[in-house]
Amino acid sequence: MNESRPKSMSAFWMPFTNNRDFKASPRLLVSSEGMYYKDVDGNSVLDGTAGLWCVPCGHAQPRITQAVSEMVGQLDFAPTFQMGHPAAFDLAEQLMDYTGHKFGHVFYTNSGSEAVDTALKIALAYHKARGEGGRTRLIGRERGYHGVGFGGLSVGGIGNNRKSFGPLLPGVDHLPHTHNLLKNAFSRGEPDFGAELADELERLVTLHDASTIAAVIIEPVSGSTGVLVPPKGYLKRLREICDKHGILLIFDEVITGFGRLCTPFASDYFGVEPDMMTTAKGLTNGVVPMGAVFSKRFIHNAFMEAPAGIELFHGYTYSGHPLACAAALATLEVFREQAIIENARSLQPYFEDALHSLRGLPHMIDLRSIGLVAGIELESIAGKPGARAYGAFKKAFADGILIRVTGDIIALSPPLVLSKQHIDELFGKLANVLKHLD
Ligand SMILES: Cc1ncc(COP(=O)(O)O)c(C=O)c1O
Repeated sequence: MNESRPKSMSAFWMPFTNNRDFKASPRLLVSSEGMYYKDVDGNSVLDGTAGLWCVPCGHAQPRITQAVSEMVGQLDFAPTFQMGHPAAFDLAEQLMDYTGHKFGHVFYTNSGSEAVDTALKIALAYHKARGEGGRTRLIGRERGYHGVGFGGLSVGGIGNNRKSFGPLLPGVDHLPHTHNLLKNAFSRGEPDFGAELADELERLVTLHDASTIAAVIIEPVSGSTGVLVPPKGYLKRLREICDKHGILLIFDEVITGFGRLCTPFASDYFGVEPDMMTTAKGLTNGVVPMGAVFSKRFIHNAFMEAPAGIELFHGYTYSGHPLACAAALATLEVFREQAIIENARSLQPYFEDALHSLRGLPHMIDLRSIGLVAGIELESIAGKPGARAYGAFKKAFADGILIRVTGDIIALSPPLVLSKQHIDELFGKLANVLKHLD
């Protein structure tokens, strides 16, 4: 038996995992480099999902691992409550540069979930600071995923994630999702049908009154719920309705930020600017946990007009952790110097063609794609939702590719440093898996 195998797997209660099934036949990763993991038996596994959507620059990126090693030897921890350290400030400035100065300020968290809850709290406090404390209602969207904090769960719209944990936040409502296979199946990029679903926000405003609504939060492209691409014009319409009624618009860019759509952020891809943006994952190339809320200047300014004192009673012990800042600074450098987004953009048509070449394989009811994200929707086995895609996931791993599944949808989001050979390997092996599914 390989020495890396754990002696027992019983104590670790694994997140979002079928623990009993996993522990009966585990999939253990022991090292990573570039586009590949190595499993405990020494097999190479092509990373078709950038870990959990979080490794745009590829694994064991030398510049990033070196920056983190140097920082841990220099400054292992420093508080950011009434204290600071240079890297946290340098990173904030560089992140603003990276957004083209569309945003003015950044608040650090340790995860996407914390970024979401932070943004929701800032939205509430912003309205209160301006004398509109009645704006307490938050609006999310069906099939949205905003992490697992109570705020994110409340605005999120995935039934299984919510059903065991109520009561969730009161005063939350949801827009309908935009997924429509009858009209939009097998789309490339934004589907044609569904922009008018944004008008549902007008209906909610009429129902609740604008004076009660603080913010709308949505993922520009929903990732975890199975790659739902917004219909043409939908996001622009949401922006217009929010503006009309003084409602803040938050884009949850935890997945779409840092190059996933072959632009720095999804807001750049769609040409629609939110008032706040939540990020995590690719921010540090997944090397050290970190999240961040990007805020427009007018939001931050509203807090700075208060009498002198602490302006926002919110923060985490590890907000702006030196190792996370070092990883994020190095990640930005790699994005710049190694033209990561340019590589992704040049390969996007090849990736999209490879995906759509799967059309016609058994059980396939949709293929959809945008940037370097692909969704493959399979028909469910009667009475066993999710079983078919889970079977694909297990077989794919055994065949040397890591894919991600949610329900009966396969999501692909490889590191952005991939090449044509990786795309051929990923879709070649996946086609073989799909041909032999139950
Ligand atoms: C859009 C979105 N928001 C929030 C989160 C939560 O991030 P984390 O798991 O880092 O808390 C995720 C995670 O996948 C996500 O996709």
